[in-house]
Amino acid sequence: MSTDQQWDIVSGVGMTALMVAAARAVESDSPGALVRDPYAARFVETARPAFALPTTAAGARGSGAAQAAMWEVLRINLAVRTHAFDSFLREAVGRGAAQVVLLASGLDTRAFRLPWPPGLVCFELDQPAVLDFKLRVLEAEGAEPTCDHRPVGVDLRDDWVAALGASGFDPARPTAWLAEGLLSYLPPEDERRLLHDVHRLSAPGSALAVESIQDMAGVLTDAVMTEGMRAIGIDLPRLVHTDDRPAPDAQLDELGWNTGRSTASRAAAEHGYAVADDSFMGRILHVSARRS
Ligand SMILES: C[S@@+](CC[C@H](N)C(=O)[O-])C[C@H]1O[C@@H](n2cnc3c(N)ncnc32)[C@H](O)[C@@H]1O
Repeated sequence: MSTDQQWDIVSGVGMTALMVAAARAVESDSPGALVRDPYAARFVETARPAFALPTTAAGARGSGAAQAAMWEVLRINLAVRTHAFDSFLREAVGRGAAQVVLLASGLDTRAFRLPWPPGLVCFELDQPAVLDFKLRVLEAEGAEPTCDHRPVGVDLRDDWVAALGASGFDPARPTAWLAEGLLSYLPPEDERRLLHDVHRLSAPGSALAVESIQDMAGVLTDAVMTEGMRAIGIDLPRLVHTDDRPAPDAQLDELGWNTGRSTASRAAAEHGYAVADDSFMGRILHVSARRS
């Protein structure tokens, strides 16, 4: 379980953002890629972590049997989830959301990669050192934001609402929120508080997409994930919380949101990947919610 209060891109929970970037880099380099992130490989190359991470399809394949099997699962998972949440956010903005808030944005490059309408404000919340690293790499790459980009360095277990407000967030305007790859790193009480804060800050017309691993204890016994992580040298059980908690859509239903759910394995099937429902991706919930 994660007890570290702060981390950078090569320590603690920050490393998971780098792993996600590696999976996006591998997908971007794969034939027929569903998602292409032009900056993902550069993040991994610049960070120089203590463990080796692939940035190409060939690199993933050649990383040894245990890692190669894990990278294939992570690549497909990241491809379908990035694709699904890109579409979710763009549709929410198309319906009138004037601001996007990426909770735990890590090395997400949506503020630079997606074509946003003029005036769209995009807030990115994550640990200060993670955001500093990301902005440094993007600046070196000459990347320009495609929106009014506002990074907010903050710990999401602290008073992130005040930090967001100080950055110009307007609770009177509809918002498109995203919590992707975050909830496993929060204790249940912080997750509950986060969802209630999102609710409190959401004007009618707001939308929220959440990714949630339903059975983290099961993931920690999944052979592909555990052997792959062990081969890299990442101690996943130390980073995540396994305590039981209500599913996010159940919590949002109680708050009066209209919710829908799918799983990563179902999303993969929609793109022609055969992924078993009782595998790692079958345990990953994609929740979409709207506040009318
Ligand atoms: C697996 S990464 C996902 C990043 C991004 N959402 C993506 O999908 O590319 C997890 C991210 O959550 C962030 N995170 C986890 N707990 C956090 C906290 N308490 N405060 C701020 N950021 C946090 C980490 O720093 C990391 O960037």
